[in-house]
Amino acid sequence: MVRVLFVCLGNICRSPMAEAVFAHRVREAGLEDQIEADSAGTGDWHLGERPHQGTRRILQKNSIPYDGRARLIDRTDYDRFDYIVVMDNANLRDVRYLGKGKAQVVRLMDFALQSGVAEVPDPYYDGRFELVYDLVSEAASGLLAHIRQERQL
Ligand code: 4NP
Repeated sequence: MVRVLFVCLGNICRSPMAEAVFAHRVREAGLEDQIEADSAGTGDWHLGERPHQGTRRILQKNSIPYDGRARLIDRTDYDRFDYIVVMDNANLRDVRYLGKGKAQVVRLMDFALQSGVAEVPDPYYDGRFELVYDLVSEAASGLLAHIRQERQL
């Protein structure tokens, strides 16, 4: 099993959206027995909460299910997961500071280079959930293609 953990700051906007979209792509590819997704945050303000209404709404609109709740990244995640996929450079710095293990730490937007966007902007502050969905959606496909190639799936 290949395990992928999406990480953002609050684990209520971007990373649950990325997790849900990625898991959906995995199911579409029939790979759900081989690739597993989860998400976590580096900040603890929203632990146990469902995703932000903006994330829930756009997932619903695109018929993508999600039933996760916010949690903090913890030290065991660094060895439990093969990939830790962060949304922005602040997440990258925090994730590198908080632990180390076998997981490769990568930025989601590095799998959508043609978008010209290096970081997923935080919709918690500006409400741009549609933009974030488009970015995450494009990059989720690129990430899945990358993992399939790297893991021969
Ligand atoms: P996220 O957005 O990192 O995409 O989940 C945020 C959610 C909550 C907060 C910040 C960012 N907050 O400060 O509570």
